[in-house]
Amino acid sequence: MNFSKCWLDYQPIKNVEKAFSTLSVSCSGTVVESAVQEYCLAMKAMTGSEPEVVRTESEEGVSLYLDSSLSGKDGYELRKKEKGYTVTGQSESGVLYGVFELLRLIRTEKLADLPLTGAPEMPLRIMNHWDNMDGSIERGYSGNSFFYKDYEIFYNERTEQYARMMASIGINAIVINNVNVHEKETYLITDTYLQRVKKYSDLFCRYGIRLYTSVNFAAPMELADFDNCDPLNPQVADWWKEAAKHIYECIPEFGGFLVKADSEGRPGPFTYDRTHADGANMLARAVAPYGGIVIWRCFVYNCGQDWRDTKTDRARAAYDNFIDLDGCFDDNVILQIKNGPMDFQVREPVSPLFGGLKKTNMILEVQIAQEYTGQQIDLCYLLPMWREILDFDTYAEGEGSTVLKIVKGELYGQNLCGMAAVINTGDDYNWTGNDLAAANTYGYGRLAMNPSQSPESIAREWTALTLGARVEEPVTDMLMKSWSTYEKYTSPLGIGWMVTPHYHYGPDVDGYEYDRWGTYHRADRNGLGVDRTPAGTGYTSQYNEPWPGIYADREKCPEELLLFFHYVRYDEKLKSGKTLIQHIYDTHFEGVEEVEAMIEAWRGLAPKLSADVYERVMERMERQLANAIEWRDRINTYFYRKSGAADEKGRKIYE
Ligand code: GCU
Repeated sequence: MNFSKCWLDYQPIKNVEKAFSTLSVSCSGTVVESAVQEYCLAMKAMTGSEPEVVRTESEEGVSLYLDSSLSGKDGYELRKKEKGYTVTGQSESGVLYGVFELLRLIRTEKLADLPLTGAPEMPLRIMNHWDNMDGSIERGYSGNSFFYKDYEIFYNERTEQYARMMASIGINAIVINNVNVHEKETYLITDTYLQRVKKYSDLFCRYGIRLYTSVNFAAPMELADFDNCDPLNPQVADWWKEAAKHIYECIPEFGGFLVKADSEGRPGPFTYDRTHADGANMLARAVAPYGGIVIWRCFVYNCGQDWRDTKTDRARAAYDNFIDLDGCFDDNVILQIKNGPMDFQVREPVSPLFGGLKKTNMILEVQIAQEYTGQQIDLCYLLPMWREILDFDTYAEGEGSTVLKIVKGELYGQNLCGMAAVINTGDDYNWTGNDLAAANTYGYGRLAMNPSQSPESIAREWTALTLGARVEEPVTDMLMKSWSTYEKYTSPLGIGWMVTPHYHYGPDVDGYEYDRWGTYHRADRNGLGVDRTPAGTGYTSQYNEPWPGIYADREKCPEELLLFFHYVRYDEKLKSGKTLIQHIYDTHFEGVEEVEAMIEAWRGLAPKLSADVYERVMERMERQLANAIEWRDRINTYFYRKSGAADEKGRKIYE
């Protein structure tokens, strides 16, 4: 096999109970059959023998039931009975999730936790693939696509394993192509590819997952002879209706469309002086008769900015473009909002749109692919970041209006909400480039299923399932420290960017400073940072009270975001009593030291790990160290040259 099994690598277990050898199935359906298959496959690997499957109720063994009166959509309940265990699902997916949960408990020796109930807390748990049909992946750091090559769509053991992996972490929607829809991908929704797409959809459906495609807003112009794609042109709308009708004839379970419009050169309604609501609703009406959904991205900003202009602020863009459209979207439209106002930086405030929109379905978009957080070379476990985002209080409906409540549908009673993540997989043997980066893939699904689980417990679970209980403690420790370490040796205090343009790995402090992307740090000889208070760009006013007052106040502003919101002099003191410049030097030295310590810790684990995992990760860690050193020296030298301030501790800073 040319791929690893990741967290589904079932190893022999010690405590084999007699009950495991019988599976009694009192329900039916294609997803239930997948649950049966998963159970048998796992048991064969863990106990050495295939369990007997009986299709009647049985006192003994593991029993599967379906009970739609069970609470929580797609929920499940696991119980111990006298001579075995029961798994009851509220739906077929519930049965499948319950079986995966049972298998996890067996593997982590936690059957004593029963009885246990669970239900996915977010209605939509989506993976966004940025795969292109030529086989490349936009921001892919683990080889090429395992969906496509040379404009052909694969279907093989790996795609099957992928579907199983996604179901095992609770994913229920997958977008199979890049949001930047290029020429050939525009044809994905046509007969050129639909039959192949259907094969994927059928596979996903067996695991309770719906398939979506990213679509090109200008498809009527590219696929038919239209000279415009004005969303209010009835012929354009009719074209989409016909296209949707055909898709659903072929794939009745088709989920819908994901759309990146008027963003980074992609076509959209702005060309025709129409709003994003006009654009989204036109598409939504085409898929509505079939229960389809349109997911519309809010990543809309001016990417042709002049760096001389200090009033235009990219951070404001999503809010400014969408806030007035609140309440204008059809019921089957969801806005997909990136976690921060910029673009997946190592540290950003939470997008103010979450606190602004009240009558619109919302999905939180995060990036598992580590575009700006080390590209799966450097270790950066992202769950603690996502946790903070979910816990952010928007104050939309008073205190306690967290992002989590919004995306769970609790605050506004919505059903079409949840999370979407740009996945980090590719066709590398280990799927994710760095073996440890799979903790983010796994963790994303687990967090969306059950956000009350802590990032640490998810890290433990992933480590135990993937690398073995023997290394659970030290690897969890590495994962938990890694975001902070990465943040220390890269850009300071929320300012972001400072990366090599286009590639986004490694330092280039001024790389984006005089460019058109709206990503500036404004460093001069006295200090750095962007003034986003009302005296500056006014971005702070996009938040609900009390945030504007907190963010705009130099003293109250959370320090990790200080330079995002304020221009600060190098000699100004931080809460620690250190000057800003000393903080920059210290964190950069510390970051490198922490990487060195992590490598030492990994070295110590060699006897407890398989040699290939050990080597693969070590190779990444050595590259991470080189990267951290480069960041440290470039950042320190840059700010030393600007400020002329010596390091109090007299460490080596290159002139
Ligand atoms: C980032 C990324 C692009 C991507 C874009 C998006 O800007 O660098 O490659 O297309 O996000 O989210 O659409």
